[in-house]
Amino acid sequence: MFSSAITGLGMYLPPRVVTNNDLEKLMETSNEWIIQRSGIEERRWVDADTCTSDLALQASLEAIKDAGIDKSEIDGIVLATISPDHEFPGVGCFLQTKLGLSEIPCLDIRQQCTGFVHAMSIADAFIKSGQHKTLLVVGAEIHSKGLDKTTRGRDVSVLFGDGAGAAIMCRTEVKDPRTDSHIISTRLFADGNGAKDLWVAAPGTALGADRMSKVYIDENLHFPYMNGKRVFTNAVRRMAECLTMALAKDNYTMDDVDLFIFHQANLRINQMIAQEMKIPEHKVFNTIQKFGNTTAATIPIGLCEAKKAGKLKKGTLVATAAFGAGFTWGSALYRY
Ligand SMILES: CC(C)(COP(=O)(O)OP(=O)(O)OC[C@H]1O[C@@H](n2cnc3c(N)ncnc32)[C@H](O)[C@@H]1OP(=O)(O)O)[C@@H](O)C(=O)NCCC(=O)NCCS
Repeated sequence: MFSSAITGLGMYLPPRVVTNNDLEKLMETSNEWIIQRSGIEERRWVDADTCTSDLALQASLEAIKDAGIDKSEIDGIVLATISPDHEFPGVGCFLQTKLGLSEIPCLDIRQQCTGFVHAMSIADAFIKSGQHKTLLVVGAEIHSKGLDKTTRGRDVSVLFGDGAGAAIMCRTEVKDPRTDSHIISTRLFADGNGAKDLWVAAPGTALGADRMSKVYIDENLHFPYMNGKRVFTNAVRRMAECLTMALAKDNYTMDDVDLFIFHQANLRINQMIAQEMKIPEHKVFNTIQKFGNTTAATIPIGLCEAKKAGKLKKGTLVATAAFGAGFTWGSALYRY
């Protein structure tokens, strides 16, 4: 049977840094509140002319270069985003054209903050089935154009940022699972009972005769709503749970794992998971302080930053867990 491995990584963050002090000018909030409740110090926002596929393009180019492949070797795109360029078609199609790729399939998925784990899982299955050999897997988001940047929306808007990350996933042969790069497992879960605890209601066909109308805008239904406390407690519980399950089922122990790359929603969430699971601090790599929550992009950005920091090397055993709207959650265990 075929296996898949991550052979290239790339990321792109728009250059404009937005600090907590900058947000103080837009809404009633404070640097102290944001840092104390979330750990976030700054995030990046795009300018008006930049769209999600632009960020995805830059991250993809870096991943292609890092993998040392020619872009013509890519035989499919799996792209996760909840902030597409347009309602349809998906960002994958725009990215394909910008990259100048041939008529390969371009799959857009959502799955919110677990988007990249889902994308990895799909890519792994495509490669294992023999259907694909070299996939471009991307997580890209522009949140800054969809947030309520007034005091009314402050509980959500201070948390999110823009950015993109990408990986090249290739077919590989695993001779020694204890050393060779490969995806060991991915496990995905969902519970729709939490759907309205973190959501954007409009546009939507459940709203009435029109998918979108001025009335919905007047009611702020186009902005995200979050039940922060429910999301927080479920994130801690579900990420710890799926990580424990993955390690047990794959016959690895917590000590075997070299690096934990969690989704970046709130520094306190990740600290609580580490505390509960007795993970030493130096094994958990966080980027939320600099970039906020970039949803589908947090995991590949985390991998890139960990690589730059010398924490991700060939043979490193990485455990990833993510949680997001839906609720959706999942794990990925892989040797880099
Ligand atoms: C949003 C979150 C940071 C709020 O932290 P919290 O400790 O639960 O804070 P609370 O909701 O209890 O709010 C406390 C107070 O701060 C206020 N507040 C909310 N946002 C604020 C902001 N940006 N600045 C200042 N005050 C703010 C609230 O209005 C509330 O005021 P009140 O006590 O007068 O009513 C936290 O719930 C969280 O991180 N949730 C999960 C987020 C997440 O994971 N999202 C993405 C999922 S993938």
